Amino acid sequence: MEKSPSTCLAITGVTRGLGRALCDWSVAKGHTVYGCGRSAEAVAELNAKYPAPHRFSVVDVSVDAEVTEWIAGCFASAEKPNRIVNNAALINENAPLWEVPSAEFTKLMKVNVSGVHHVIRAAVPRLIKAGGGVIVNVSSGWGRSVSPQVAPYCASKWAIEGLTQALAEELPDGLAAYAVNPGVIDTDMLRSCFGSSARASPSPKTWVTRAAPYILSLSPEQGPVSVTVP
Ligand SMILES: NC(=O)c1ccc[n+]([C@@H]2O[C@H](COP(=O)([O-])OP(=O)(O)OC[C@H]3O[C@@H](n4cnc5c(N)ncnc54)[C@H](OP(=O)(O)O)[C@@H]3O)[C@@H](O)[C@H]2O)c1
Repeated sequence: MEKSPSTCLAITGVTRGLGRALCDWSVAKGHTVYGCGRSAEAVAELNAKYPAPHRFSVVDVSVDAEVTEWIAGCFASAEKPNRIVNNAALINENAPLWEVPSAEFTKLMKVNVSGVHHVIRAAVPRLIKAGGGVIVNVSSGWGRSVSPQVAPYCASKWAIEGLTQALAEELPDGLAAYAVNPGVIDTDMLRSCFGSSARASPSPKTWVTRAAPYILSLSPEQGPVSVTVP
């Protein structure tokens, strides 16, 4: 299932959680990773740990200009990304929808939905020019079902599912888009909504041994769009 070592990934949200695990796994397997996140400290640590050809940048995906510059830099590198993983996201603090502050709702949508759009706007024309590639939009079980207390997050992931379905119909041959439900994994995000019971779920390190080969196996010939890490 694993792709050749020539896979070059651009991954958002590599400073923690699933993005970090995917980054560590990919580098260890000989793939090239361009990653981003907001934490300057974590980005500096990644650049020290994984020198060139890998590269890590401080980018807030909700800011179109920052994403445009980051993606342009990735594609100006000797090795061009051929797999884009839109992983960065936020979850709202548990609350019924009518108690969620407007600013929190807006910020979540700007990261979880607009952030993905910013990356697609910048990357897809370059992937088309290169003749192929795969776009992986990290979705959620809450992109296909719902739970109380996390309505803004559910809304954003249902948006990711719809956006990805439509994108897949727009892409030319040789490019494919997938909305990938990663499962339930013990990260900062899960602890925010599940509390201490998050510990019962697998760690990102355990998850990645199943998830990364699966994510790298997703074909540039479009298959079913909404998929789940086995
Ligand atoms: N964990 C689960 O069980 C689960 C289940 C279903 C879906 N997911 C999805 O899986 C993905 C990863 O989640 P996770 O559990 O690993 O979450 P996490 O531990 O909270 O990590 C989120 C990552 O996104 C980055 N990020 C957040 N806002 C950003 C922004 N504005 N710009 C750039 N980077 C940003 C964070 O880094 P900085 O803080 O440094 O920016 C961090 O690296 C998300 O799309 C999430 O919705 C997770």
